[in-house]
Amino acid sequence: MGTVGVGLTMSLDGFIAGPNDSVEHIFDWYASGDTEVTVPSGTMTVKVSSASATYLQEVYTTIGALVMGRRTFDLTNGWDGRHPVDAPVFVVTHNVPEDWVREHPDAPFTFVTEGVESAVAQAQSVAGEKNVGVGAASLAQQCINAGLLDEIHVDLAPCLLGDGIRLFEHLGVTPLNLEIAKVVAAPAVTHITYHVVERGGQA
Ligand SMILES: NC(=O)c1ccc[n+]([C@@H]2O[C@H](COP(=O)([O-])OP(=O)(O)OC[C@H]3O[C@@H](n4cnc5c(N)ncnc54)[C@H](OP(=O)(O)O)[C@@H]3O)[C@@H](O)[C@H]2O)c1
Repeated sequence: MGTVGVGLTMSLDGFIAGPNDSVEHIFDWYASGDTEVTVPSGTMTVKVSSASATYLQEVYTTIGALVMGRRTFDLTNGWDGRHPVDAPVFVVTHNVPEDWVREHPDAPFTFVTEGVESAVAQAQSVAGEKNVGVGAASLAQQCINAGLLDEIHVDLAPCLLGDGIRLFEHLGVTPLNLEIAKVVAAPAVTHITYHVVERGGQA
């Protein structure tokens, strides 16, 4: 079975979005270089440094399923029907959106109303040997508290947002020990992978 990991871009002061869900400056690194990377869905091409391109290609080839939160789903209009990573998406929500029209009937979206643990288990069974990616802040926090994570991937963006959505708050299991597994120091972002060596397990 693959790993379960959170993967998000975070500002130096710990936010994954600014006030009013603004992502100004957060994702600048996706347009910061000369190496073109087309996302697996084929719906978008980013231009990043060669170091970030290698990092992204590895992520894209190893992700087998995604667990996402309903707010991110709504804010992106369900990624316009097809997630860029082009893997099955399990959206954790209290209410299934009956009126959502799937523009791509073959893009697998599953709405999970039984909570994060169920969503992660369903994603793992689909991902098989591949990894499960989790986002965004609310889900990351619940996964940390439930002891569900093997890894935390932070794309550390060189900006200070001052306010917004904090990635690491509402944690009931701190202090939690992590191990630095990998650091890719790209020119416009630092990709850091941490292994969770000590699990929380406080659901
Ligand atoms: N920097 C990055 O890499 C990155 C990536 C993705 C998103 N973002 C940003 O992150 C923000 C969204 O993150 P977020 O943490 O606020 O929200 P989120 O995790 O995307 O979604 C939270 C929502 O999911 C549902 N939910 C969560 N836990 C649940 C549970 N246990 N049972 C049932 N439903 C549950 C609830 O929606 P309902 O009650 O409505 O069902 C909840 O309001 C946006 O600003 C987005 O732009 C940043």
